[in-house]
Amino acid sequence: HKHLLGIEPLAPHEITMILDLAERYVDLNRGHAKHGDALTGLTQINMFFENSTRTQASFELAGMRLGADVMNMSMQASSIKKGETLIDTALTLNAMHPDLLVVRHPHSGAVDLLAQKVNCAVLNAGDGRHEHPTQALLDALTIRRAKGRLHRLSVAICGDIAHSRVARSNILLLGKMENRVKLIGPPTLMPSGIAEFGVEVYQDMAEGLQDVDVVMMLRLQKERMDGGFIPSEREYYHRYGLDAQKLAHAKPDAIVMHPGPMNRGVEIDGTIADDINRSVIQEQVEMGVAVRMAAMDILARNLRATPQEVMA
Ligand code: CP
Repeated sequence: HKHLLGIEPLAPHEITMILDLAERYVDLNRGHAKHGDALTGLTQINMFFENSTRTQASFELAGMRLGADVMNMSMQASSIKKGETLIDTALTLNAMHPDLLVVRHPHSGAVDLLAQKVNCAVLNAGDGRHEHPTQALLDALTIRRAKGRLHRLSVAICGDIAHSRVARSNILLLGKMENRVKLIGPPTLMPSGIAEFGVEVYQDMAEGLQDVDVVMMLRLQKERMDGGFIPSEREYYHRYGLDAQKLAHAKPDAIVMHPGPMNRGVEIDGTIADDINRSVIQEQVEMGVAVRMAAMDILARNLRATPQEVMA
């Protein structure tokens, strides 16, 4: 693949290959000399048209640790504010010969469109409700490390599924790796036609969490609810917020995940989020750097490959 735009086009063996390489970068990141040379000489530009803490910081660190020249475009200060379109902005940057473009955008499909207009490799850092592939890969690595495998697990994804690109990418990835995926949330936050993705749908946390290995909590994405129904936080926490009582329905060794940013007391109780025996939320962040190093390393190998190697 020239780009990483989503989980959808990836084959299971490609997912495994990225995770295996990321494992090596976990070891590198835990050492005192955190430098590799997979991206030496390459230029990486990060363009975030939406707020980010984890994804932007980890893409930046990942690029720096592998020797790339990394530039973060400040989209608030860019000429987008003067009416320049996304494509014109991308073509302008393209003329400066970047090798890797990391893009987050509020509109689904915007990153795919941009990838068609530029010469470099594009990595999707989250587009609207569509996909967030590196999040699903870092979640997969976290699960594989905690459970020792990434197949035949029962995984509950809970909350605002309808507006979540994290849920969509995870549903695709976990399905490809032959896991059982249970979606739990109110009908107003469940996308129509979701059962076609081979998932089970529940409205009740106690029922849906029964015997799961992994509990993945999601934030209410109010910024994407554009005038639609927004549940009251208090009512939502009562029915869908993860607390000890609801978690007791999962397997005793079930892990708790959250992609962040987290709203304590809305979708998750702070005590559960901080419980190092159950929560792997900080490990997810750690895996984020390693997975992004692996993804960029693999795309850089493709950039450097001769046409004959690409054909092979
Ligand atoms: N999980 C995630 O995408 O977080 P940020 O929005 O902080 O990047």
